Amino acid sequence: MDFRFQAGELTAERVPDTEAERFQPLLDGCEDFHQLTYGRPALPDQARLIPSERPPGLVSGQGHLLALKTATGEVVGLLEALRDFPTPGEWYIGILLLAPQVRGQGRGQAVLHAYEALVRASGGTRLRLAVLEQNEAAHRFWTRMGFQPENWVGPVEQGLKRHRLLRMTKALG
Ligand SMILES: CC(C)(COP(=O)(O)OP(=O)(O)OC[C@H]1O[C@@H](n2cnc3c(N)ncnc32)[C@H](O)[C@@H]1OP(=O)(O)O)[C@@H](O)C(=O)NCCC(=O)NCCS
Repeated sequence: MDFRFQAGELTAERVPDTEAERFQPLLDGCEDFHQLTYGRPALPDQARLIPSERPPGLVSGQGHLLALKTATGEVVGLLEALRDFPTPGEWYIGILLLAPQVRGQGRGQAVLHAYEALVRASGGTRLRLAVLEQNEAAHRFWTRMGFQPENWVGPVEQGLKRHRLLRMTKALG
């Protein structure tokens, strides 16, 4: 499955896990997000480590890394997710991250809607994710996108920070 889709002017393309380091410039440009999440900027090898931070026991191809590219090929976003996790038909969004200069213009919504269509077409019936308590903008975003709160988990340590996380879910009609 190649996961290619169009979302407004952005194109989503699958990046093999072995090439995850291609996201490092994007992560370096999202210092705000890394300060909020880990209390520090992105580590020099943070992008390369993304696939290794998934839960254990996944089968090959379940995790997918998608680059969100402009028409000129610049990578301005990242979507990392798991299909059929934690149960068949449920897909889990681990990271949705846009570069600061392309946020706040409806692109996140366009990407999510296009991804939802792909998940539905692949037999998925529900999306899941967890949002940090301190990430108020993300909480507003997911709520506006139709996600419902489920339960709080944590506190968990992330880098230099400790967070509570709100698990959220959306049934795909
Ligand atoms: C969360 C994220 C993916 C949302 O994507 P986005 O493209 O910024 O989302 P939208 O543009 O749809 O909405 C963001 C804001 O822009 C506003 N907006 C949407 N379309 C707009 C437009 N055309 N013109 C002006 N403002 C607009 C929205 O009302 C929203 O306002 P709010 O912050 O008061 O809620 C993105 O902001 C991001 O990458 N943030 C950092 C990483 C992160 O926190 N990820 C989520 C982890 S759980």
